[in-house]
This record gives sequence, structure tokens and C-alpha cells, in this order.
Amino acid sequence: MSYFPRVARGVHSYPMDESVPEADRLGLGVVGLHEGRTALLAAYRTRNVRAVAGCDLDPAVLAEVGADVPGVALTSSYADLLARDDVRIVGVYTPDHLHAEHIIAAFEAGKDVVCTKPVVNDLAAARQVLAVAQRTGRRLLVGQSTRFFESFRRQRAAYERGEVGDVEVVEAHYTHRMDWYYDRAPWIVDGTDWVYLGMSHPLDLLRWYLGPIESVSAVGSRSALARRHGLASYDVYSVNAMTADGRLGRAFGHYGMHELARARNSIECLLYGSAGTSMAQYHDMRYVHTADDGTEIVEDMLYEYRHYHFNNEVHGMHYGEFANYLQYFADALATDSDYSPGLAEGIETFCLMAAVRESARAGGRPVELAGLLDQVGLT
Ligand SMILES: NC(=O)c1ccc[n+]([C@@H]2O[C@H](COP(=O)([O-])OP(=O)(O)OC[C@H]3O[C@@H](n4cnc5c(N)ncnc54)[C@H](O)[C@@H]3O)[C@@H](O)[C@H]2O)c1
Repeated sequence: MSYFPRVARGVHSYPMDESVPEADRLGLGVVGLHEGRTALLAAYRTRNVRAVAGCDLDPAVLAEVGADVPGVALTSSYADLLARDDVRIVGVYTPDHLHAEHIIAAFEAGKDVVCTKPVVNDLAAARQVLAVAQRTGRRLLVGQSTRFFESFRRQRAAYERGEVGDVEVVEAHYTHRMDWYYDRAPWIVDGTDWVYLGMSHPLDLLRWYLGPIESVSAVGSRSALARRHGLASYDVYSVNAMTADGRLGRAFGHYGMHELARARNSIECLLYGSAGTSMAQYHDMRYVHTADDGTEIVEDMLYEYRHYHFNNEVHGMHYGEFANYLQYFADALATDSDYSPGLAEGIETFCLMAAVRESARAGGRPVELAGLLDQVGLT
């Protein structure tokens, strides 16, 4: 029996699934090997995806990744990666503003794509990617990692079994102090907006449970940390969202706060339904929910799943979520089944993010999504 590659302290006791022979697994080639390195390593945790190639412009990154995944072909040429016959799925993990160009090149080369969130971060790119997907017929899964964390998967399965009834209100947040990110990735400081970065998680959760959002009203501000780094974007957001039939969503994000991790997990999603209430948490892997008699039940999976989801004894980066979505997409491709979030849903969620940004910049003025959906051709 084999075990996951040892990439940090800790003994990996969770066995690999080797039921599909190596040659029958779908080959994964990844562009952008910072967060993308996690995707390459996560492939080892799947049943039917194998890491075959990686591309990055930075030679130091290529050298580091080469040590972690010795059998993977590494290159600084994206065209060379796309030309490989053994690459069936391309993973796009470059900075946000490059996603559209890298997705389009992969589609044109006949590949299907997993793209990390946000799939795009501007309206023109959204239109272009949709047009090329339509012309080439290629498929794309948005790597919305939170959906694929074990506690969030349990919450979703219970919701689909009807355990919370009709969802009337969704409350989601993602809070995390991000000083380390500004030093590592300068494009975060002036090339994007936290609405497309951290806020993509709670906003996707709202959209996932409420369905299409009709309008939003949002406010934002800059923390001391953001002001110190000269951040162009707000790094604190508070959002109210409403569906056409009057159901409510509330999303909150704060990326300059001092963490109080024992009291509030960095990501939480609460569903208030007609038949019950539930909450999923990340980093702690807890799913908390009401039972029929009103008892509050806490399911804690952390110690059972820690070797699969993390790279050390307790918490680390999210290998498990990446493995889960790679596995899920490969299964959907192999069986020609539906999957979510696909490209159109990802672009609708991008429109939700863009609406939040517009509203916050206008001091909370409500913004209808219809105009943005029209502009990308999704109405
Ligand atoms: N939970 C999640 O799923 C999650 C978490 C963090 C980041 N992300 C996303 O992952 C993406 C990358 O974020 P990051 O933190 O790794 O950024 P980063 O800036 O740290 O790393 C980007 C990497 O891409 C490489 N790169 C840039 N341009 C390239 C090109 N044209 N061709 C090949 N390589 C190129 C850089 O050399 C660098 O190694 C972003 O879209 C980000 O939003 C997702």
C-alpha cells in the first residue's frame, strides 16, 4: 500500500486509492505553481487524476516544485505544457487577471480546465471566455475550494436530503489576517480587489444555497493593515443580498483583523431553514446542526480526516478540497455528467462580486445584478 507524499512534518496514515491503474487516470497539467503546487500534490490523493506537468515563469518556483513532485515534467513555456498529449485537464492557478488568457489557450488546445476562483475578474474577460467555451465545447470547473471541505460537503448533503427544509436566510463569512499575502503576491496590493479574493468564498456560498441573487447592498472599509500596505481595494466588506422571492443572504469579510480562531472559524456558513439550522466551519472541520427534537448535534471530523485534508498534524493548506474537486471533475468528465460550479455559474458569481464592489464604492447603494448579467451575455 502507498501513502501520500510526505511534504511536511507528520505521518500520512490515510492510504491512497489505487483502484484505477496509473495509465487510465486523467493527466493534469498546472499553470501557476504557487497555489497550483497544492493542486499537483492533491492529485496524489485522488483515484483518477495524475499530475503530469507544471508550468511557472519563476525558475526558483520550478526548482522547489521539482523537489516535491519529481516525476512531473516542469517547464516555463505554457505552450509546451498545452502541446502535451498526456495533459487532459489544465489547472489554472495564475494571478486572477491572467485566468481568462490561460483558460482560452487551454480551450483552444482542446483541454478541459479547472480554474481556481475567481474564474475571471472583469466583464470583457467574462464575455471572451464564454464565447470561446461555446465555440470549442470545452468544459470548466471553478475550483471553489470551500464547497469541497468535508464539513461543507456534509452540510450540503444534509440540505439536499431536506434536513433544513427551505433555506430562508444564509449567513457566511471569511475572515483571515493577510499580511503574509501582501509580501508574497504584489498583485494583491494594486491589481485586484478583496471582493474577488477572500469574498469569493462567502459570496459563492450565498449563491450556492439561495440560487440567483437579484440585488445587493454592500459597504466596505480599509483596516490599519490595508492602509499600511497602500491597498487599492477595501479589505473589510459587509454585504446584504436578496433573491427575487425575498430570501436573504448576509456575507462578511475582513482581511486585516486579529484572528480569534477559537471563537470564530475563518470560514463559516449558516443555513437558517424552515425545518432546521446548520453551520459548517473551516479550519476546524465541524458540522453543527439541529436534530428533529431540537437537540444541537456537533459532528467533528478533524482528527479522522486531517491527514487527507492537511499536510501536517493539525492544520495546513487545503490539499483535501483540491483533491475532492479534481476527483469530482474527473468523474464528471468520465461519465459525461453535470457538475457545479461550471463556467456560467462561476461568471454569474463574478457578476455578484462585481455588484458588491460597485455598491460598496457607492456607499451602500443597492445594485441589481441584471445589468451586469446582461453585459456578459448571461440573460
Ligand atoms: N482557496 C483557494 O482556492 C485559493 C487560495 C489562494 C489563492 N487562490 C487563487 O490562486 C491563484 C494564484 O494565487 P497565488 O496566491 O498562488 O499567487 P502568487 O502570485 O503567489 O503565485 C502565482 C504564480 O503564478 C506564476 N505566474 C505568473 N504569471 C505566469 C504566467 N504567465 N505563466 C506561468 N506562470 C505564471 C508566478 O510565477 C507565481 O509562481 C489566484 O487566482 C488566487 O486567487 C485560490
